[in-house]
Amino acid sequence: MAKSKKADDVKTVAAVIQEGKATLTCGKHVVNVTAEGGDGVKLFLSEKGSVKAEIPADCAFRGDIVATYADGSAAQVEVVTDILEVRNLKKYFPIEKTLFGKTKTSLKAVDDVSFTLAEGTTIGIVGESGCGKTTLGRTILKLYESDGGSIFFDGNDITHLKKSKMLKYRTAIQLIFQDPYSSLPPRMSVGNIIAEAVRVHKIVPKEEISSYVHEIMQQCGLQRQYYDRYPHEFSGGQRQRICIARALAVKPKLVICDEPVSALDVSIQAQIINLLKDLQRTMGLTYVFISHDLSVVKYITDKIMVMYLGNVMETGYTDDIFDNPLHPYTKALFSAVPVPDPDVKMKRIILGGDIPSPANPPAGCKFHTRCSQCMNVCKFKAPQNIEYSPNHFVACHLYDKEVMSNLSRYDEEYEQLLAKQKQEEEEKAKKKRPHEKKEK
Ligand SMILES: Nc1ncnc2c1ncn2[C@@H]1O[C@H](COP(=O)(O)OP(=O)(O)OP(=O)(O)O)[C@@H](O)[C@H]1O
Ligand code: SF4
Ligand SMILES: [Mg+2]
Repeated sequence: MAKSKKADDVKTVAAVIQEGKATLTCGKHVVNVTAEGGDGVKLFLSEKGSVKAEIPADCAFRGDIVATYADGSAAQVEVVTDILEVRNLKKYFPIEKTLFGKTKTSLKAVDDVSFTLAEGTTIGIVGESGCGKTTLGRTILKLYESDGGSIFFDGNDITHLKKSKMLKYRTAIQLIFQDPYSSLPPRMSVGNIIAEAVRVHKIVPKEEISSYVHEIMQQCGLQRQYYDRYPHEFSGGQRQRICIARALAVKPKLVICDEPVSALDVSIQAQIINLLKDLQRTMGLTYVFISHDLSVVKYITDKIMVMYLGNVMETGYTDDIFDNPLHPYTKALFSAVPVPDPDVKMKRIILGGDIPSPANPPAGCKFHTRCSQCMNVCKFKAPQNIEYSPNHFVACHLYDKEVMSNLSRYDEEYEQLLAKQKQEEEEKAKKKRPHEKKEK
């Protein structure tokens, strides 16, 4: 959806239907669409209820949407547009260089990551330590230059924007860090910390800055008298409120929250999460929420993306991922989430082995060295991202009909690969031997 909005680039839903591509989804349900062309589009919803209709990625939309149920009665439809689209994003860190300074080996911290995020919603990024969550957040923020792929924000391609043009987006996309202790300047008062960015980015006229800062502080649960106090005088939860107030004072549209509560006590965590939720509702904010804590993720997110060694393993609506995790990695990760029902017996899946080094990831499916369902095909062929059900994507061969119906062919291919590898190793060893003799 996040396409440039040049007039000739804009397709109506009707046009897309004629090309046979239209699928609109509302929550979990596919919306049947009939369109007359022009500006008015009719949606026929498959189930009753208030729904959100998402416009498909390859289509921009203009005009009113009229939604009715099969019996002709009117339905409420809120059209949600994507504020962020990340396409095949890559961030590689050089870890070894040649004598001439060229990169010899790199660590693929974010490797071909794609997702979309609707305005006013939250996506949770989850996965074990080192899977690339923070790097993804920082690359979206353009604190790191990407090594491939694109980032569309609010309909504009910001992937390669120069620093001067990026200024506008610096306020529109904000970051809240994990550690509220180190991210606040110790020698500035709370009021000045929040006011600084407001002043620099000219968010309100000079004479209104003080009252504006007080207003933001109040929204974030900070009392008026805190204005002249310093960060060291506050608890962890209060400091995180100051960080949130500072981020929101510049009126962002998108906030990247990187483990915003993991440094806080459990009781304080709930307060901060509820604050973020309230602010989202009142200010229409969109969040990328990075967290290890799946219970928190369940509570605050609409969508979840599961990462492993820089790759996306599964993406879907939060309810779908919790009710029906598909990927063996997601299943293991989510088996550790406590269920508040004494009758439900937890079957925790313990993953064997360590996470492989991201500098030298396994071939094929990156998860294959730890997967209990690993097949030969997984050891050399990377799985495709498959849409298992509307908006529920999984990158695993178990859900790929083509792969699963040709397993014996892939077994043969694997045997051939092994034989070839063995032959190559033997040839290498043969070449090495005379050299070894010489050394002796
Ligand atoms: N500046 C950097 N230079 C080189 N490697 C880096 C750099 N930043 C991160 N990495 C590596 O990239 C990989 C992903 O790191 P990242 O911090 O994004 O993981 P993460 O999922 O946020 O982990 P955690 O949950 O522990 O915060 C790791 O292997 C890390 O060592
Ligand atoms: S592709 Fe294979 S190794 Fe990877 S998760 Fe699926 S079954 Fe396991
Ligand atoms: Mg991190």
